[in-house]
Parts: sequence; structure tokens; C-alpha cells
Amino acid sequence: MKRYILLLAAFASIIMFASAQDRSAAMNTYVSNLMKKMTVDEKIGQLNLVTPGGAVTGAVVSKDVDEKIRRGAVGGLFGISGPDKIRRAQQIAVENSRLHIPLIFGMDVIHGYKTGFPVPLGISASWDLPMIEQSARIAATEATADGLCWTFSPMVDIARDPRWGRVAEGSGEDTYLGSKIAAAMVKGYQGTDLARDNTMLACVKHFALYGASEGGRDYNTVDMSRLRMFQEYLPPYKAAIDAGAASVMSSFNLIDGVPATGNRWLLTDLLRKQWGFKGLTVSDYTSVSEMINHGMGDLQAVSALSLHAGMDMDMVAEGFLNTLKKSLTEGKVTQSEIDQACRRVLEAKYKLGLFDDPYRYVNDARPSKDILTAANRQFARELAARSAVLLKNDNNILPLKRSGSIALIGPLANDHSNQLGTWAVSGDPSLSVTVMQGIQDLAGASIKINYAKGANITDDPELAKRVNVFGMRAEIDPRNADELIKEAVTTASGSDVVVAVLGEASEMTGEAASRTDIRIPGSQLKLLDALVATGKPVVLVLMNGRPLVLTGEPQKAGAILEAWFGGIESGHAIADLLFGDRNPSGKLSMTFPRSVGQIPIYYNHMNTGRPMQPENKFSTKYLDESNEPLYPFGYGLSYAHFNYGPVSLSSPSLNTNGIITATVTVTNDGAYSGEETVQMYIRDMVGSVSRPLLELKQFKKMSIPKGESKTVSFTISKSDLSFANAEGRSVLEPGDFKVFIGGNSRDAKGADFILK
Ligand code: BGC
Repeated sequence: MKRYILLLAAFASIIMFASAQDRSAAMNTYVSNLMKKMTVDEKIGQLNLVTPGGAVTGAVVSKDVDEKIRRGAVGGLFGISGPDKIRRAQQIAVENSRLHIPLIFGMDVIHGYKTGFPVPLGISASWDLPMIEQSARIAATEATADGLCWTFSPMVDIARDPRWGRVAEGSGEDTYLGSKIAAAMVKGYQGTDLARDNTMLACVKHFALYGASEGGRDYNTVDMSRLRMFQEYLPPYKAAIDAGAASVMSSFNLIDGVPATGNRWLLTDLLRKQWGFKGLTVSDYTSVSEMINHGMGDLQAVSALSLHAGMDMDMVAEGFLNTLKKSLTEGKVTQSEIDQACRRVLEAKYKLGLFDDPYRYVNDARPSKDILTAANRQFARELAARSAVLLKNDNNILPLKRSGSIALIGPLANDHSNQLGTWAVSGDPSLSVTVMQGIQDLAGASIKINYAKGANITDDPELAKRVNVFGMRAEIDPRNADELIKEAVTTASGSDVVVAVLGEASEMTGEAASRTDIRIPGSQLKLLDALVATGKPVVLVLMNGRPLVLTGEPQKAGAILEAWFGGIESGHAIADLLFGDRNPSGKLSMTFPRSVGQIPIYYNHMNTGRPMQPENKFSTKYLDESNEPLYPFGYGLSYAHFNYGPVSLSSPSLNTNGIITATVTVTNDGAYSGEETVQMYIRDMVGSVSRPLLELKQFKKMSIPKGESKTVSFTISKSDLSFANAEGRSVLEPGDFKVFIGGNSRDAKGADFILK
């Protein structure tokens, strides 16, 4: 029977392989025939990606878009949505351009479409891969219902510097978790068939290494060894590509001194030759023309450099449109380079089914049926709850009782404009549920809510101006700070417990939102101090998009719930957690430092030759701060309490093709049932190159009812023990290893084994 099933499976995969081959042959024939009819100008036109408005993230906006579409000088548009607008633009292309080639329509659908989910850093703290995939599936269903077929997501840049505002858009600092999430998101967006009307092209970005911008300052220089690239920064992009990502966006930064957008090693040698990527490449917003500032030449030179490097589409800069023909005439680019790029753009359109039906994604009946459905909002509520991380809960202040009175304080407690977080270009902030509404809906009948704003998000008008570029996010109250605090203190004194909702304005993270001081802004810290001074128990709920420095005043709060910018259902999710309808289960995907001076700080660092010894002056340390983070990678509490037993191994050694099983028993000895993310880390003790102190290699999420124990096993094999060398090839070196299993990267129990 088993053999029969195996035979059937083999037969099915031969048929699938054959039909994939047929499909690709049909695509080649179609595209080749079309390209035979195209002029050089029309081919170059396909390489032009423009935005007629919407969310603009640079100084340049595309002009005369309709006219350009008509003359075949546009391959795709981004930043517009809705069946009407998309139909109108598509009509110009299909009915008025000479060859009727349809346009492709892109958008930054980053963490949900209209149903906004938590910012990606928050979602990554759920460690819940099926839910993460589903979040991308829902986003794709909503976005395609609104006419879109290409998202500029997932952003998979490993980031270890919380000063960088774009940490909000990624999955944190860890290569393994980041790779798993990258793959899950690609699968969610693209589904199993790109030609279906509810799937869209994913675009893995920003290729590559953008998260390592020096000083955490956006668009800044990156410089790193090949070893670090291959071991730590490149795997998530590779994972997205292995999962089938149809497109790749280049980054703004340098790699080995050459901007990614013009870097042939990156875009051709690595991406296409070594990794076998066959899809579409696109530049980031004006990153082609920005190479002029990088000192790579004039617009003609940088455009030629980019095309030659392997870039297919030029986003907004119009360097390709305006200079490639001249470069062709002058012999600076070849016809086959232009053809190659054009072919890839047309192939993307073909895969989406746009040549069969250019209006495939334009269906007036879909928006009301597919967007912002009750089920999508329910999912958003659940994902927001699972993304939140309980950082502190002294004396079990949480969960709160459903009786008595709550002082609900803070500039973010009843503020719609910041809930969705950065890069929520299609979301409507007014539809988001605030904490005030969430608590009212859940417990309003049995408790009294006393509200006071208490403080401005920031009192600094300059900072407020900078974060208000996309609309009012940080409003400065006409009342002065003392008046606001006084009102809040009176409110707190007359209530049983204080829930303070503090943090950042949404645009304090995201693109071009780097900060040097990553504490909660001073206006709010002052408020927090005053609230604590009332002697009432204080629960601090945080809304923010990066790891913050939470030493000092925040530690005076009895409980801290990191809720991130939780999306459209944020307020409901927070209420669910505060009152114990759900039990927090999120785990940090990025280290929270004690001080900004410790940055970059991350758990999987190398050892030094002089490891930290408190009594030894000449060991690696700061004079004025500990080396330890405030909250380590993988950390997060629950209302349950999990106790880890010792790690036992199935054998003291394994050979290179063997396996070993590491087992641990986790007991929930707390008062609530809960969910734990059991994390397995490996340390390679001796290698041809220095290896990190710890590396996450696997994890398992599991529910453990109160009073019960669960035995968790991990199978360790060579994929957990090998590492990449400086050429990006996998190396497996026999020797001593340690495995650690625990609920975070700091408190994990270990066992030794040998790879023979
Ligand atoms: C960002 C990208 C984004 C693009 C298009 C750029 O400024 O870096 O992440 O996809 O704009 O909006």
C-alpha cells in the first residue's frame, strides 16, 4: 500500500514538473512573440515603474503618467488602488497604447491591507508561522480585491540597531526566525497559483543588508564581511526566494562600496547565478538616480550600471526611461541586457494572468465582499493579542479584575491616529479600536473607566512636526504639561488601578524615522513618575515600533505589556490581555537594551578573547553599564509559569549524517493555562572560524494547561550544526557542540554532545 502511494506521488510530481515545464515553455513563446513586435523604446518603457501619487517616500513624484502610459513608456504603477482607478489606468494601457500591454499594479501592503495587523516587528513576536502566513494571505485577498497584484513585502532585513526606525517593518534580529517568517509571508501572498485573482507577487526587500545601516541612520553606509553576510544577513532573503518570491527589491545602501542597485555581484552573481533566482528585480524608490550622490556617475552612467548589474525595473527615477536608449547607441549597454530586463517584466505579468485578462484584479463586487470583513477583523484581534509581549508582571497585577475602577491614562489610550503604525498606507486610522473602546466593549458594564490624557506624546514641537508629515500623529495639547499631569494624578488617585498607555507616535518608526534617544519621550516619563507616586498599582501598556530603553521610570510600573502598534483591532486585543480573556504569549524577536550606548546589541554575538568578568578590569565591558540587555531575545512572560527540566540527549554523539534528539519537560506550575514558545539554541564550541555563543535553530509553540507538563523533543541534524563560509557554501565541522533549550535566549538549560 505504502509503495503504491509512493508511486502515485512520484507520478504526480512528474506530471506537475511536466506541466510546470509546459507552462514555462508557453510563457517563453508568448513573451518572445510579443517582444518581436516591440521597439527599443517600448522595451525600455516596460522597465519604468512610476507612482502618480499616494504614499510618496522621496522627493520625486512621477509626472505626465497618463501620457507616458499611452506611448508605452510605463511598465507598472504603484501607490494607487481601488477598482475604478486601476481600471482607468489599465484601460489607457490596454486600449490606447500601441501593443496593448497591460500594466502591473504595486503597493506597499506591509502588515495587512485595510484590515491593519500589528507592525511586522510585532507580528514576528508571535513566533506563530501559520498565523503570519495567514496574515499575508488575508492582506493579499484584500489588496487584490482592490485591484493590486504586487506587494512590496516582505521586508526581511535583519536589524540589530533599534535606533533605525525601519526595525518596525522587519522581523527583528534573528536569522533563523527571520528566514522562517520570510518564507511564510511569501507563501501567504503568492498562494499556490499566482494567476488566481486573490494572489499577488511578493517582493522581498531590501536586498541586501539594509538593516545594518551605520549608526541606525536611514539610507546610511553598510560595510560588512562576506562571512557575516552569508551567516547572518543574507539567509532571510534566500529563504524568501526559495519559497518562490517572484520579485526582489534592491536596497539603498552600499555593499562592498557599490550601491546595491548597481551591484552586479549582488544582483547577478549571487542572486541569479548562485541562488538561481528567475524572477523580477526592482530598484527601491529613486535608488537608481541616488547613485549619483553615491559618486557613481551621472544619470546615464548610473542607469547603465544598474541595468548591467541585473536590475529590471527602475522605480520612479526614470533613469532607464531617459538614458538607456542613448547608452545603447553609445555601446554602454547591450540590446540583450535591455531584452533580458524587459522579458522579466513581461514574464511577471504573464504569471499574474494579465495577458489573459488585464482586468483580472478589477472587480467592483470584490471590495465590499473581501475587505474589512468581520472574520478579517477577528483575525486581526487575535494576531494583535498573540504579538503582544508581557515584559513584567510584579505580584501578578495582571490580569485585572472586572470590578471597581480603572484610571485609563496616556496620550495613546484613546487615540485613533497611531494604532495602525508605520507603513499602513491603505488603512483608515479612524476605524481602529482604541484601548478605551476595547476596555469599554469588554468590561464596560462591570467597571468604571476614568480617562485622562495626562501628557502629549512629545512636548517638542520640532519632533512633533517631523512625525506629522502624513497627518496629525503627535498633537500638542493647548493645556500645559503640568495641567495635564495634575488632571491625570487626580484621576489616578480616585481609581483602583492605573492603566497607562504610553509610547511613540506611529511615525517615530518606519522609514526616515531614526532616533538617537529611544526612551519613551520625556513628557510621558514625567507623567509615569507622577502616576507611580500616587501609590496606585500601575500597568504600563506600550505602543511603539522598536525596542525602547525601558530602564528608569518604566521599571517603576508594576506591569509592562509591550503591545506594539497593534493594528486596527489593537484596543480589543489589549483589553483581552489585560482582563485575562487571552494569556500573553509573545516573545521578543529583538533585544531590548538597557542603554542606547550598548547598541548594536543582539543575543547571537561572538565571544571575545576576554569574556566579561566583573572583577577583571581587562575584560570586555562598559565602566558605566552592564553588558546584559534589559530584556533578551526570545523573552516574554505569561500569566502561566513555565518551569524547564534538564535537557536530556538520546546519545552523547552523532555522526555527520546522523541525528540526536534533545528532550526537555516543561511544567506549567502557574495559576493559568498558557502557551509557551520552547526555543532550541546551538553553540558550536570549536570551528575554523569563531562561532556565535548561541544561535536559534528550532522552536516549538505549545499550549500547556495549568498543572500539567509537556515533553518537548527536538531532532538535531547537520542542518542545525552547519554554517556558511565566506563563499556562502555550507560547512559542517565535527567537534564539540552544546544545545540549549529554554523560554528565552538567556535562561536556557544546556547539554553537551559531539559531532563525529
Ligand atoms: C521604501 C520601500 C518602499 C518604496 C515604495 C521606499 O522609500 O524604502 O520599502 O517599498 O519606497 O513605496
